Amino acid sequence: MEIIRTASRLKELADKARAEHKSVGLVPTMGALHKGHLSLVERARRENDIVVVSVFVNPTQFNNANDLATYPRTEEADCLLLEQAGVDAAFIPAVEEMYPEPDTRQFDLGPVAEVMEGPMRPGHFNGVAQIVSKLFYLARPVRAYFGEKDFQQIAVIRRMVELEGGFEDLEIVSCPICRADDGLALSSRNVRLTPEQRAVAPAIYKVLSQSAASPLPTVKETQRDVVEQLNSLPFMKVEYFTIVDGLTMQPISSWNDTDYAVGCITVYCGDVRLIDNITYKKN
Ligand code: PAF
Repeated sequence: MEIIRTASRLKELADKARAEHKSVGLVPTMGALHKGHLSLVERARRENDIVVVSVFVNPTQFNNANDLATYPRTEEADCLLLEQAGVDAAFIPAVEEMYPEPDTRQFDLGPVAEVMEGPMRPGHFNGVAQIVSKLFYLARPVRAYFGEKDFQQIAVIRRMVELEGGFEDLEIVSCPICRADDGLALSSRNVRLTPEQRAVAPAIYKVLSQSAASPLPTVKETQRDVVEQLNSLPFMKVEYFTIVDGLTMQPISSWNDTDYAVGCITVYCGDVRLIDNITYKKN
């Protein structure tokens, strides 16, 4: 596996792949890799000639300095996992390499970015659009893989691709959430949970899946019930639980508003912000 530190070398690899009619599959990550990332890598491996994984903790998408400072960084272990997974190239640039000058681009991400994570994390999605567009321009992937844990992020990236216009042959591949045996959605942030918090955290998926299996008559009651159940548990504080249309990300007020209803949740477990989602219906 080649470790690439510069944008110019990644571009060179991508140009060569294109010239040789080889498909590049890109898995953008912020490192601290776990089985969830590896499932994206495995899929990319099956579907492409060349697999590139980027490992970059992107500062422009953090609206909380402490979250950026404490974000786990495990480069050596990440490289080992990627090598074992048969990745062709790991792109691990320094911040100055990706941002030789401040990126002042403002993306008109529209309604998909105006709800849930949008208002909770001002600037976050613009930062995601900045880095992911840079990665797409450099790696020129035919497929790029994202996990559905960050459900809204996928809609935002699709919107960015639409806005940029230059990625006609790019497919955004959305991949199912990977969960621990007890149901907790795998996340790099899980390592920051204390053992006591880690024992409570699986309740998020338990409550969500029970709710999706037997929703209450109204969306409002369903949302309130999930929030109340989780808030009654130690360490847990729900930031939001919103049931949205799974394509537009717009909150629904009646089950009849959409054929594709997804409940998106953010919960603080202690000071660790966990996110998850569950499909209520998909016709
Ligand atoms: O989902 C993530 O890990 C990040 O938001 C991404 C897509 C790698 C961009 O930094």
